[in-house]
Amino acid sequence: MNVLLGVGGGIAAYKSAELARALMERGLRVQVVLTDAAQRFITPLTFAALTGRKVITNLFATASSEETLSSAIEHISVAQDNDVMVVAPATADLLARLAYGHADDFLTTTYLAFTGPVVLAPAMNSNMWAHPATQENLNILRKRGHVIVEPEDGLLACGMTGPGRLAEPDRLADVVASLGLGSKDLDGETVLITAGPTQEPLDPVRFISNRSSGKMGYALAEVAGERGARVVLISGPVHLPAPQGVTLIRVHTAIEMRNAVFEHLAEATIIVKSAAVADYHLSRVPQHKVKKTATRMSLELDPTPDILAELGQKKGDRLLIGFAAETENLTAGARSKLESKNCDMVVANLVGQDGTGFESDENEAVLVLSTGETIPLPRAPKREIADRIFDQVMKLRLALHAAQ
Ligand code: PMT
Repeated sequence: MNVLLGVGGGIAAYKSAELARALMERGLRVQVVLTDAAQRFITPLTFAALTGRKVITNLFATASSEETLSSAIEHISVAQDNDVMVVAPATADLLARLAYGHADDFLTTTYLAFTGPVVLAPAMNSNMWAHPATQENLNILRKRGHVIVEPEDGLLACGMTGPGRLAEPDRLADVVASLGLGSKDLDGETVLITAGPTQEPLDPVRFISNRSSGKMGYALAEVAGERGARVVLISGPVHLPAPQGVTLIRVHTAIEMRNAVFEHLAEATIIVKSAAVADYHLSRVPQHKVKKTATRMSLELDPTPDILAELGQKKGDRLLIGFAAETENLTAGARSKLESKNCDMVVANLVGQDGTGFESDENEAVLVLSTGETIPLPRAPKREIADRIFDQVMKLRLALHAAQ
């Protein structure tokens, strides 16, 4: 996703450099535009060094008539080339100019030509923030559908304490990344996802299974598809409609799931194992229904193939994301799975409580990464959890790429 970062002239402008870095860490491409006032607080060179791209500072170039012409229409192409526009810090003056449609510099002109989502992160003195003029301008911008990331409370540069500090760059970057609904950052990836339970037959009419509904895996498939990936979804028996545009392969048993996974491994670049695969099965299933004859019956079960462990051995340079269904010690359980199964990330989720894990519409998880990071994901709808998982997958892709 391409992000246009507009920087206004306030003391918080230095934090926009951190924001540029945080956006890039999330796999986003950043084009910086500085207002005249911003350049009094921070130089274009800082952003050019961080983003590796030319920083735009002027609506009109002065060197030659040819340059002037290309510069005069650059705001149109910049508006078209970017998916999200963020203004941070958005000063009181900038908010007013945006609210009233002024077009007197590159940033405000581009804003008028821009049709995508806009995020505004105001920062200013508390009294300026509280002033009815600022609040009215904010209401205009809110009504226009823009996302306002409100300033935080704290000690301000002017010595006052109160609301006015620019929101933390990581928080802002998360907001921008989450707006990437239309973003295609998984473009070019083929994501292989397993979902749902497996059913292990005991005879032609009975089976062993678990409570997985497939909701988590199907949410992952939908989100990956929307973010531009080609998706192969290998699903155990569930009662969910096939997500649009996804190659859906239906299986019943762990062995069928294993075979389908390895049939499609060659084309995959990312593998996400959210299926709840049965750990044991009956290796010799009777051909006919078992009659109720004995008063007591015991079953001797054999282990099913451990698909995740086998993938860990054969994944090559693919990213392998495992799941861990835990009832306690989320992080410790996930870290040991990460290492023993050679995963790049394990999504540890809480099961055995109402509202998360199996069958529910929401989930709560901890992401344990091979980089050593541990990222808690508070309870949220499964689609949102899926989005956060892919945000981290893309960060991991960049980190591993940079380490090569
Ligand atoms: O489907 P929902 O109702 O939405 O519920 C979602 C979920 C709770 C099932 C899902 O979020 C989840 O936790 N999936 C993994 C469940 C599980 O089997 O966890 P586990 O800790 O037993 O297995 C660890 C990992 O090994 C998993 O990635 C699993 O797919 C994999 N595995 C397990 C056994 C096996 N024979 N082969 C495997 O590949």
